[in-house]
Amino acid sequence: MRIGVLTGGGDCPGLNAVIRAVVRKGVATYGHEFVGFQDGWKGPLEGLSRPLGIADVRGILPRGGTILGSSRTNPFKIENGVERIKDNLATQGVDALIAIGGEDTLGVATKLYELGVQVVGVPKTIDNDLGATDYTFGFDTAVNIAMEAIDRLHTTAESHHRTLVVEVMGRHAGWIALHAGLAGGANVILLPERQFDVDQVAGYVEKRFQHQYAPIVVVAEGAQPLDGQMVLHNQELDSFGHVRLGGIGQWLAEQLEAKTGKEARTVVLGHIQRGGTPTAFDRVLATRLGLQAIDAVHEGDWGKMVAMQSTDIVRVPLAEATRELKTVPLERYAEAEVFFGS
Ligand code: F6P
Repeated sequence: MRIGVLTGGGDCPGLNAVIRAVVRKGVATYGHEFVGFQDGWKGPLEGLSRPLGIADVRGILPRGGTILGSSRTNPFKIENGVERIKDNLATQGVDALIAIGGEDTLGVATKLYELGVQVVGVPKTIDNDLGATDYTFGFDTAVNIAMEAIDRLHTTAESHHRTLVVEVMGRHAGWIALHAGLAGGANVILLPERQFDVDQVAGYVEKRFQHQYAPIVVVAEGAQPLDGQMVLHNQELDSFGHVRLGGIGQWLAEQLEAKTGKEARTVVLGHIQRGGTPTAFDRVLATRLGLQAIDAVHEGDWGKMVAMQSTDIVRVPLAEATRELKTVPLERYAEAEVFFGS
């Protein structure tokens, strides 16, 4: 078989580890041939591809980003997008696709499968918000980066008797905030899953100062105050209809400073959480998902997403994985609340 591989959506550490595993097993064990489509769905849409052999994937296991490039292109928003993809696959003699992506990229894969394209999906995202898989690779790396930042912020916050607000990514799911906040010993963690009362947060912050420790407040970019006012820099939508989040950290620091009388500063971790080398956990997860993906393609098990359930790598219908976002259950949030303000 000749198999196309693409990476779509926001990049994350571990994408190259998947590509490497797919190509290494696909060529060495099954004798398949590969092409790499560039920049997500833009690649098959515009016929942008490059050969992908074992030599091309050597040395990429620890490298962040993606050697194939990525974009947030939605072929369903482009005239004749699906036909153009089908034509380009036929012209390039590509029999099947492995799409590595999050809810948007795999949402496109789901619809293309329903329209007859032979496709298998691999879940990625630092947000860890895809259904049907316990973890997505990229998440562990992002959490470790955020935890390390929080560790460093504790010491400087204490020297200056300041509140430090750390804004982390995660879109509409609070997984990064919850795990990084728990691992980093945050004083308060705020998630999109539950609106927060800014007076209560100010109370936690004051209590922490009374204990002679400076508070670290971890806020997910999608968290919202009680009045429901989403704080955004920019209301622009991408081609999948998502707003660009960010700004809640700055707003919150201003509120906390005014309410507590103690200086409050904001650190927005931003794309640092997505850059650089993957953790061992993410390298192993990405590699195992890649191996399962090429097995699924070899067996013609189309319309599936490979997933981690417990410690096993399994296959689930793509449609199941993209049906709804996996957000933080409130009972998990309650575990973290025990530590707030103390
Ligand atoms: O989905 C991954 C993610 O990093 C989100 O956490 C964040 O909201 C978004 O992508 C940022 O996207 P971009 O890199 O396009 O600004």
